[in-house]
Amino acid sequence: MKTRFLLFLLPVLALAMHAQELKSPNGNLRLELMMSRGGIPYYTLNYKDKPVVKESRLGVIVKDDAGFTEKLSQFTDPTFSEFNETWQPVLGEVKEIRNHYNEMKVPFKSMETGKEVVIVFRIFNDGLGFRYEFPESENQRYFIIMGEKTEFTIPGDHKTFWIPGDYDSNEYPYMTSKLSEIDAEKGQDYFEISTKKIIAPNAVQTPLMMKSEDGLYINIFEAAVEDYPVMHLLVNREDYGDGNFSLTTSFAPDGVGNVAYMQAPCHTPWRTIIVSDRAEDILASKMILNLNEPSKIEDVSWIKSSKYLGIWWELHVGKASWNYSDIGNVKIDRVDWHKVKPNGKHGATTDRTKYYIDFAAKNGFDAVLVEGWNIGWEDWFGHWKEDVFDFVTPYPDFDVKALQEYAASKGVKLIMHHETSGSATNYERRMDDAFRFMTENGYDAVKTGYVGRIIPRGEFHDGQWMVSHFYRVAKKAAEYKIMVNSHESHRPTGQSRTYPNWIAAEAARGNEFNAWSRGNPPEHETILPFTRLMGGAMDYTPGIFQIKMDYYTPGSKFQVHTTLAKQLALYVTMYSPLQMAADLPENYERFPDAFQFIKDVATDWDNTWVLSAEPGDWVLIARKAKNKNEWFVGGITDENPREMEINFNFLPAGKDFNAIFYMDTDDASWDKNPMKYKIETRTVNSNSVIKVKLASSGGVAVSVKQGGY
Ligand code: NOJ
Ligand code: CA
Repeated sequence: MKTRFLLFLLPVLALAMHAQELKSPNGNLRLELMMSRGGIPYYTLNYKDKPVVKESRLGVIVKDDAGFTEKLSQFTDPTFSEFNETWQPVLGEVKEIRNHYNEMKVPFKSMETGKEVVIVFRIFNDGLGFRYEFPESENQRYFIIMGEKTEFTIPGDHKTFWIPGDYDSNEYPYMTSKLSEIDAEKGQDYFEISTKKIIAPNAVQTPLMMKSEDGLYINIFEAAVEDYPVMHLLVNREDYGDGNFSLTTSFAPDGVGNVAYMQAPCHTPWRTIIVSDRAEDILASKMILNLNEPSKIEDVSWIKSSKYLGIWWELHVGKASWNYSDIGNVKIDRVDWHKVKPNGKHGATTDRTKYYIDFAAKNGFDAVLVEGWNIGWEDWFGHWKEDVFDFVTPYPDFDVKALQEYAASKGVKLIMHHETSGSATNYERRMDDAFRFMTENGYDAVKTGYVGRIIPRGEFHDGQWMVSHFYRVAKKAAEYKIMVNSHESHRPTGQSRTYPNWIAAEAARGNEFNAWSRGNPPEHETILPFTRLMGGAMDYTPGIFQIKMDYYTPGSKFQVHTTLAKQLALYVTMYSPLQMAADLPENYERFPDAFQFIKDVATDWDNTWVLSAEPGDWVLIARKAKNKNEWFVGGITDENPREMEINFNFLPAGKDFNAIFYMDTDDASWDKNPMKYKIETRTVNSNSVIKVKLASSGGVAVSVKQGGY
């Protein structure tokens, strides 16, 4: 009711202050800031004179201080500045990033208490970021935020790509509907993991990707979320007769119902709106990274991109187990593991690991991940208990020292695995020991995991405490020169700029769901770049060649929802400096010619060209390998077969190159003939435009090199 009243009266109320204006460097984006007579700030955003966000409230809700939200006054003029720099990410899609924006800082005071908040706007050519900053003063030091009044008023019933709002999980397939048709309860069909709970029928997660009827692509997200909960959105479906939708915020509370504990000077994360009339620009945007602070790690020489294999997929397809035995009711420190009877299915054995190390060395991979190496997997899941794992004791059949020597002798790294089963407290108590153990044994990268309900009990994966925990892990890991790939963490918001050792995260529905659930629909990978990947690299784990799971389990209906060629293309379309070749070595040996692409493809890049893209339909990207004259192209489609035109004008002019095309055969399709592919070699140059056919949920991958491979 209240919002309705305010919106209705807004044209009158907004007269209290002259609109203050801020334009993007190229003038395409225009922000206006207004003030209601009562003391509430509002903003609007236009792109090439089209409304992107209409009059929308700003403000935070401070506990026991209603005046701070409702009765603000601007007490000095805004300050304006321009910023223009280029910087080099340690690892990335491009070698250099331009960070160019105009900034406006507007100081407000609570009329009741005199407490201050400065709203800072940064407007780039590709979008707007704004945040609330709280200077320190005698009466403003400690305070509790209960939520935000931040609003995004969307002028139209846009096509929207969304997953249900859930403070504990982002592992949902995307749904596509009009804003008015969002029904988060539909997510209940995807409760494969017990920690899922939908916040409300109108709750969705960010990044929220939208397309307006007049062709604007709009992405609402946030940047640099640190020591603050992750933002979810509530879609206010009530239509005020003007066709607007109001998106308001929702944050995971802690166990006593508070949202964020603040100590001034401090600030909220950036709220962001990326907008363009070209979908490709959304994927090319670097605004989220730009809104993060430069690296806090000085020596970054040890942070490297890599391609890895792992004792992993065989666990997910049920060929082997994480657990060594089948005993139940385990208290890890009370079991004599050498006396326990093995179940005969344990995956992480010394021999199997050596086999992977050999295969990695032979095929030029950097590393091997081993899951299930450590005691505790017998009852790791579902008991919401402390002390499930100690992170330092291997099972009797996994020889840490011998394997380390073996791996080192072959020039391969082993990747550590720390599944916490949601017990972050247990992990925090043992983290130093765990990282020391890693350093002593030659590990320089860890995959973390948080499957299950969180301990401290009452906390959510997306709450302030857990967000801070994920950062504590990344910072502590950096002290030991360890890189982190976090699973079941909150989705990244560009923090790899500040903590480049936090090299990747899962934080979405990965390829693994295809092994043991109804999986990821064909369009899934065409939406992820517009949503989850906006905040940073994803450990999606592509490269599954054995597409149908009845190969392992007769009668199984589960399968990967792509063709084999599309699995190859994902190495280019799904950016990550850490890429897994997720299938079993045995399966790669069955298809050595297709495996060649995974062996060749780069993981760190000088440049990227988003050739063509449409969320939910297709993505076509070309990239140049870092410091090498090698280029890779990846194109993927949803369930619709599609013809794609690859324009090679990204190549240097005047030279011929050898290109290898990995494509679907004419009779391939993700459900009927997913493993049918063909490989063709052609000569290309910067004038080449080549048409290729993609099967239903198919793909095309191309590697290009002067002289050829
Ligand atoms: C879920 C992770 O996403 C997956 O990669 C891992 O194998 C399991 N948790 C076990 O830790
Ligand atoms: Ca997961």
